[in-house]
Amino acid sequence: MAQAIGIDIGGTGIKGGLVDLDSGELVSDRIKHATPEGGEPDDVVAVVRSILAELSESDDTAPIGVCFPAVVRDGRTMSAANVSKKWIGLAAEQLFEGSLGRDITFVNDADAAGYAESEYGAAKDQDGLVIMTTLGTGIGSAIIYRNLLVPNAELGHLDIGPHRDYEKYASNLVREKKELSWKRWAGRLQTYYTTLERLFSPDLFIVGGGVSKHAEEFLPLLQLETPIVAATLRNNAGILGAASLAAHGSGQRRTKGAEHLIRETNPVAP
Ligand code: BGC
Repeated sequence: MAQAIGIDIGGTGIKGGLVDLDSGELVSDRIKHATPEGGEPDDVVAVVRSILAELSESDDTAPIGVCFPAVVRDGRTMSAANVSKKWIGLAAEQLFEGSLGRDITFVNDADAAGYAESEYGAAKDQDGLVIMTTLGTGIGSAIIYRNLLVPNAELGHLDIGPHRDYEKYASNLVREKKELSWKRWAGRLQTYYTTLERLFSPDLFIVGGGVSKHAEEFLPLLQLETPIVAATLRNNAGILGAASLAAHGSGQRRTKGAEHLIRETNPVAP
């Protein structure tokens, strides 16, 4: 049975599990620790190390994928929207590999979640253009076309109308903080998804993030041309996607992120 470890680093929690890559199911406990205050790189690495120690008891050869809420290029974190600014420009993959003593694959969190939904979840049988959005502290996004991930789409930061950086107006955190009703929040989401629709003409929208468990409260309020569905993998999407991307990339040193998938499956890519 092909297995890989997925670790999902978020602003509040760091989760990990061992994944059966054929079924897309966890074959270990789902381990969760709080993200250390301030989210500094060294503190985060220490938590990941302890999660890995717990998971590696069952398999210490499995590929390891780690996903994180930032643009990730060649293993470097290039942004830090809701985490410590120390991550900007950091050679994160190298830092983790040095500290963990294992090869890892480091990718964006929404990319991992979207990839998992296309492999095992809501977009499994959809071979058109899928846009996954995660509604949480920010808005994450993944663009997947015919099961090919286009990495690092940062569609949560679009400027729409008078609103610069739309995630600051429409994320789930904003809904909670401003105590927006589902209806008022759906109004903000309507503008968002209509804009994405106009820009990309997708075949399917998938909505993830913790709030997707309340999807029936807000998705039916949206009026879109494009079908929009809740993610099916819920809280495990990041873990599953990171594990799966790590397994596909194993053997390819320093071509990490999801870029290698483009090279592997797209003959015209450089
Ligand atoms: C970040 C993205 C991330 C998303 C969800 C955004 O603020 O810029 O990289 O995927 O939040 O965590």
